[in-house]
Amino acid sequence: MNGGLASALDGVRLSLHVLAATVWVGGQITIAGLVPTARRLGEGASKALARAFGRIQWPAYAVLVITGFWNVSAVHAGQPHAWQVVLTIKIVVVALAGLSAYLHTRATSVRALAVWGAVASLSSLAALVMGVFLAG
Ligand code: HEM
Repeated sequence: MNGGLASALDGVRLSLHVLAATVWVGGQITIAGLVPTARRLGEGASKALARAFGRIQWPAYAVLVITGFWNVSAVHAGQPHAWQVVLTIKIVVVALAGLSAYLHTRATSVRALAVWGAVASLSSLAALVMGVFLAG
């Protein structure tokens, strides 16, 4: 018994996972809000902002994947079929989020930038919501 609290190790595991999710998902929302202001600051300002975010975003994605598999090994035993299905869908959605965020950074047209940016943010948000349901 732990007074109804998570164990220290579970606390570390989930805190790291949630912290990385705040950077990956919250960062995308924050950057989207800052870009119009950055554009007014001059040519190249929004690109510089995006590059700086990339240096924070990709380490956060790596932490999400590592702690995600740590989550699976800690809690998957004995989970019902529906939980396993949501987990499988979540892993596919996380891969889509990573791929679309990468394609967003490589986009050369305004259209590709908008499409891959939208796919990245929607799939990231979907992964977050599925995570909340997995945690129960
Ligand atoms: C974009 C990437 C991801 C985001 C935004 C994300 C977000 C979240 C969030 C917000 C939670 C809820 C934590 C809580 O309420 O305590 C969670 C839980 C969980 N995530 Fe993720 N996650 C991501 C990637 C992954 C990956 C790649 C995996 C598996 C390989 C994974 C497996 C899990 C599991 C199993 C839980 C439940 C943990 C538990 O009940 O202790 N996640 N995730």
